[in-house]
Amino acid sequence: WQIQAPLIAAINRLKRETNAVVLAHNYMTPDIFHGVGDYVGDSLGLAREAAKSDAKIIVQGGVHFMAETSKILAPEKTVLIPDLRAGCSLASSLTGEQLRLIKQRYPGLPVVSYVNTTADVKAETDICCTSANAVQVVEWAAKEWGVDRVILVPDEFLARNVARQTNIGIIAYKGACEVHERFNAQDIADVRAAHPDAVVLGHPECPPDVIAACDFTGSTTAMADYVTQNKPKQVVLITECSMADNVTADAGEGVEFLRPCNLCPHMKRITLEGIYASLLTMTHEVTVDAAIIDKARLSVQRMIDMPP
Ligand code: 13P
Ligand code: SF4
Repeated sequence: WQIQAPLIAAINRLKRETNAVVLAHNYMTPDIFHGVGDYVGDSLGLAREAAKSDAKIIVQGGVHFMAETSKILAPEKTVLIPDLRAGCSLASSLTGEQLRLIKQRYPGLPVVSYVNTTADVKAETDICCTSANAVQVVEWAAKEWGVDRVILVPDEFLARNVARQTNIGIIAYKGACEVHERFNAQDIADVRAAHPDAVVLGHPECPPDVIAACDFTGSTTAMADYVTQNKPKQVVLITECSMADNVTADAGEGVEFLRPCNLCPHMKRITLEGIYASLLTMTHEVTVDAAIIDKARLSVQRMIDMPP
């Protein structure tokens, strides 16, 4: 990515001139992640940063629901996404209207929504969660509402993986991440057969039998931290491919990253060229209806306010 140096320099100059920051998710390509990301991390980290940043403009190096989350937390800021087509199969699996129907079927139960949802869904939600804090949030919601079951939408696999780690009953929905649902237990068996000493880390959006076969599960940042702290000789990240590319630099020599991994077509719509054009032309601005922001903010803020 060093050959992109002039473009990286131009973006960093534009950022200074316009008082902008780039919030880059762990799935961004290394040129974005290492070259222009002012803050890099998982969805929870990016949301926290949007809430506290002093910049006037946020360029979301990530997908549309992440940009909406930034706008909900920082409505006074201009939030830009370099490509409006950067969606998410989880966010598009559930509408606010569908969630209202689910709530009618389970009156009195709190709604925990994965942050991978539209602003409309967040407006119908009691508290959001990410892969970094889902168990903690589910247990908090059950205690706060005085119930032993919660609604956790829209990712069925995340819900089932959370259910294995808590005594709280989980009412799940049928959404799935198109990237993580493609991994299967045979993938892990094949890696272990070929590389018996490899450490296998999996994202909790993977099917439960995949997670059961992994050595560790956690958010994208938790996986990256695991590698930089433990420096396994061989490691497999059962998640999006750019993760390994980005962690390679921080892990240093001596850590070999093995496959498989899958690409997220939505995350890959965000490019260095797109970020440059976005800052130059101030497009595409992500807006959220003020009434929706008012309702959605409580659910996101509650999550942000939870102790780390
Ligand atoms: P993290 O919150 O773990 O970064 O995951 C976001 C995501 O979209 C994973 O597919
Ligand atoms: Fe959505 Fe999956 Fe892509 Fe993450 S990896 S943005 S959950 S489609």
